[in-house]
Amino acid sequence: MSHATASTPQSRVLSGMRPTGALHLGHYHGALKNWVRLQAQYDCFYFVADWHALTTHYANREVIERNVYEMVIDWLAAGVDPEKATLFIQSRLPEHAELFTLLSMGTPLSWLERMPTYKDQMEKLKDRDLATYGFLGYPLLQAADILIYKAGFVPVGEDQAPHVEITREVARRFNHLYGREPDFEAQAQACLKKMSKADAKAIEAARKAFQEAGSETGLEQAMQLIEQCGALSANDRERLQGYVRGSGRAILPEPQALLTEVSKLPGLDGDKMSKSYGNTLAMREEPAEVERKIKRMPTDPQRVRRTDPGDPQRCPVWQFHKVYSSAETQAWVQQGCTSAGIGCLDCKQPVIEAVQKEQAVWRERAESYLANPKQIHWIMEVGTERAREVARETMREVRDAMGLSY
Ligand code: TRP
Ligand code: SF4
Repeated sequence: MSHATASTPQSRVLSGMRPTGALHLGHYHGALKNWVRLQAQYDCFYFVADWHALTTHYANREVIERNVYEMVIDWLAAGVDPEKATLFIQSRLPEHAELFTLLSMGTPLSWLERMPTYKDQMEKLKDRDLATYGFLGYPLLQAADILIYKAGFVPVGEDQAPHVEITREVARRFNHLYGREPDFEAQAQACLKKMSKADAKAIEAARKAFQEAGSETGLEQAMQLIEQCGALSANDRERLQGYVRGSGRAILPEPQALLTEVSKLPGLDGDKMSKSYGNTLAMREEPAEVERKIKRMPTDPQRVRRTDPGDPQRCPVWQFHKVYSSAETQAWVQQGCTSAGIGCLDCKQPVIEAVQKEQAVWRERAESYLANPKQIHWIMEVGTERAREVARETMREVRDAMGLSY
């Protein structure tokens, strides 16, 4: 467990999505649904990762251009609430690029070369030339995205977990290199003076016990005293916590991956749902298309005739039932399929209806935004300015720490 320092609003969540196409049900069930849930509990920052999209789609500007606001409409349709979450567009915040550049100075090439996504994607996306500087540096850009907001948690899929890990390493290295202010001890002492005598004494004792004997007993309590002291600013707290641990100031706190349980919805053919496999249902698919596509879904390959019993385990339609159907309907499928009591078209009907019902809500929400594009632009404008305040403040601290405030 990484400890939260006080200026880490550990309650901040950050995540981004690449605007490379219409979002589909895989995106919704794998990520977006979770975003909607998190916004009630955390200070969520969600952004359009358009620079990230360029690392693979640098020769397809029209794709990205077309999809930025379309993707935001999908977010809002799904229930992302701009009153609760801060929504913004990466390229509107050059601070991300500045931090990326500064972090790149001290990041070993090998850290980037060994990223599993690096070689995987190069092989998978054969039709693109990804032997580029931008593509190699992509995880570091992601680290900058995360660290600039001092996010405590990053909800990502499993494939992205190594990117959060490298972010932690980058942060650790940065804090090690630049977290030690020349007058660090004196500054920490000044902070202690702002506390009650008894608390300051307890903190000094805990520091000594921890640094000299590795004792964790007083540590937690000392951290709490610091956390709760109203006389300290966020920076004071961070400094003091670093003082107690002997680690210097954590200017860029280490985030944690938030691997929440998500319901896995496969594509129409049972493979991973992905636009490049042509097996998707878009979030705002026409109802008639939803029906047509689900009716054409392959089923248990061993159920050739209507009279053959089937096994839902071998059938992608069952995976949809697991996400969309009640226990009662699921029991009906199990019973009807294995006894050949129902046909596959019968079986698909409740799925068709459930998907259409879910999408009707999204479509309705999207309608109002589509009719009023200015509103979307305004939402992103407000969110971007809110993000800019945080990003600017972090960059001020980073420049100070690196000795760039001439
Ligand atoms: N790399 C992520 C993806 O491909 C998108 C992303 C960019 C991101 N920056 C991020 C996700 C920061 C979480 C946090 O899906
Ligand atoms: Fe699949 Fe349903 Fe047909 Fe069984 S009855 S094979 S679960 S579609």
